[in-house]
Amino acid sequence: MRFTTRELSRRTFADFEAFHASVHSCGCMLSLRGRHLSPVAVTAEERAKLLGAPDRSKKKFPHHEWWMARNVAEMKELVWAGQAHGILVYADKEPVGWCQFGRAEELPIVRTEKTPPNRIARDPTSEWRITCLTTRRDFRGQGVATRALTAAVEAIRKKGGGWIESTPVAYPQSKREWRKIKRTYGIRSEEMKDYLKTWPTKHIPGVGTVKAALSTSQTADYRGVMTMFENLGFKPTQRDEHGSSPNWWAPYDLVVMRLKVDGAA
Ligand SMILES: CC(C)(COP(=O)(O)OP(=O)(O)OC[C@H]1O[C@@H](n2cnc3c(N)ncnc32)[C@H](O)[C@@H]1OP(=O)(O)O)[C@@H](O)C(=O)NCCC(=O)NCCS
Repeated sequence: MRFTTRELSRRTFADFEAFHASVHSCGCMLSLRGRHLSPVAVTAEERAKLLGAPDRSKKKFPHHEWWMARNVAEMKELVWAGQAHGILVYADKEPVGWCQFGRAEELPIVRTEKTPPNRIARDPTSEWRITCLTTRRDFRGQGVATRALTAAVEAIRKKGGGWIESTPVAYPQSKREWRKIKRTYGIRSEEMKDYLKTWPTKHIPGVGTVKAALSTSQTADYRGVMTMFENLGFKPTQRDEHGSSPNWWAPYDLVVMRLKVDGAA
């Protein structure tokens, strides 16, 4: 399959919308806002009153649709204002992959003292951040995210370049056994504690020892995996203290990766 890429813009926004509708969720507005949406309603009763009852037979929740629509509408405003950036990957004419990047000061777009540190650049000298990779399920494992990431770095180069920062997972690890233990004994059980004693770790020079991240054969983390960034010349600088899992029962470590690209002449 030959993949092509285009940047998010007014002209490609309809493709972003189509892509967004074809994946279960997208947290890109969270990176741009630096916070979650305020809840539409607090109790199930209030939600039902406002949005109608969920159709459980189809696993469709009106709240989810409302949330998706709000995300797209807000993203549209930012694209029109030139404040949201990304790469779309196409298989023929169909959008099948996405990578969000942006200037460090646009991610989040409005920063307040309440913005959690895991939402902002880890290094004050970082000028760009790459915050999300998503590939449509039926196109995973074919190099779509790698293609999106490469195009994002190239787009940053064309926009003047500078230090780019991202926080992928150190490396993925299948969660089949973890899931089984979770199902049988519970996530915070003694059995889980015992099992995780042998959870794989890796030593990264200059960074320290990092834990593998839970993944499945179908899905890796939306921040991507370290090797994808290494292949493009990014270097690990530290374990990401703000983004790595704080919970012993669901382990993953993120690594801050940085690359300086010169602007296009
Ligand atoms: C992470 C993700 C984008 C990878 O997309 P992809 O198109 O399958 O990735 P690629 O085929 O380009 O592979 C990139 C690298 O990741 C590795 N990889 C991808 N999926 C993997 C998996 N499930 N397990 C282990 N490694 C995996 C590949 O081996 C490759 O490694 P390499 O660079 O060392 O060769 C995809 O799994 C995804 O969309 N996950 C869901 C993200 C999500 O939740 N998005 C919503 C955002 S809130």
